[in-house]
Amino acid sequence: MRAIEIVQPGGPEVLQICERPMPVLKAGEVLIKVHAAGVNRPDVFQRTGNYPVPPGASDLPGLEVSGEIVDGDLSGSGLRKGDMVCALVQGGGYAEYCTAPLEQCLPVPKGLDAVEAASLPETFFTVWSNVFDRGALAEGEVFLVQGGTSGIGVTAIQLVSAMGHRVFATAGSDEKCRACESLGAERGINYKTEDFSELLKAATNGRGVDVILDMVGGEYINREIRCLADDGRIVLIALLGGSKAQVDLGHVLRRRLTITGSTLRPRPVAFKAAIGKKLLQHAWPMLESGRIKPVIYKTFPLEQASAAHALMESSTHVGKIMLKVQ
Ligand SMILES: NC(=O)c1ccc[n+]([C@@H]2O[C@H](COP(=O)([O-])OP(=O)(O)OC[C@H]3O[C@@H](n4cnc5c(N)ncnc54)[C@H](OP(=O)(O)O)[C@@H]3O)[C@@H](O)[C@H]2O)c1
Repeated sequence: MRAIEIVQPGGPEVLQICERPMPVLKAGEVLIKVHAAGVNRPDVFQRTGNYPVPPGASDLPGLEVSGEIVDGDLSGSGLRKGDMVCALVQGGGYAEYCTAPLEQCLPVPKGLDAVEAASLPETFFTVWSNVFDRGALAEGEVFLVQGGTSGIGVTAIQLVSAMGHRVFATAGSDEKCRACESLGAERGINYKTEDFSELLKAATNGRGVDVILDMVGGEYINREIRCLADDGRIVLIALLGGSKAQVDLGHVLRRRLTITGSTLRPRPVAFKAAIGKKLLQHAWPMLESGRIKPVIYKTFPLEQASAAHALMESSTHVGKIMLKVQ
């Protein structure tokens, strides 16, 4: 099969088309003929040598696909060979064929095409797990996502506002802030010209926000602590601003704050399967009704994966960057 491999750690040019043997099915897995694959920032970190491949996972990049099931034991799943699914995978998505644990395959929401379906798994699994499970966002609580126009951000804004919460988002330009608002954020905050901490205190009558989904970390932590409500939670999913910060733990102590985080990729299949069930129950009906829409910024042919990565690193995109297998 044709695939995109990382020939050595480096810039987008190290992503090159290659011939690889077909992936071998393990117990509990299905083989998918890939129609489309999503590009995610963790793929960029893997390409640069900063995100080691978990043991047993494919060395090929790609954490989410959509496509046709062509092989595997489907008993008890209600799925049949030939069905179209979208799947969260541990790697290997930038290829004509990819294996996925059966339990991490979800039906393509009605009305969505293959590219839209492939754009869902990585961000929906990550957002659900970190906002509603780890962050325990409860009824009536207020939410902030940093990086509102990232793939993660556009999902977080739509899903969390559709679940009935007030949502705020930060982004790096006024234009991106307006995009956040058009997706359901009450206010997009330009972090280059505005202080999100002050703004959020004002917007909540001094109370603060309850859950922050943060991909920045570093010195942001102190500003986030300042605008957290009592009992508030910061959930870290990346550290784009650095892994170190000096923090006054007095706030954590006195105001019962929680600073937590997680990475999805190394978690076991059963953990991901449980998130998948919640997504099917809560998010898939919203996708099928059009309440939540995939936000596809640009789609490249598989062969142009390096151009897709260069676009992601330019950070000019709003939403998802996709690869289509011809
Ligand atoms: N923990 C997990 O399980 C998990 C899973 C998936 C993804 N992630 C992480 O989540 C992040 C987003 O992933 P993605 O694929 O959606 O990437 P992406 O589309 O490339 O988004 C990266 C975003 O970071 C924003 N950003 C950078 N510095 C910022 C700052 N100081 N304040 C606010 N926003 C800032 C950029 O916005 P501007 O251009 O506007 O600055 C951009 O929107 C990545 O870091 C990725 O590694 C984690």
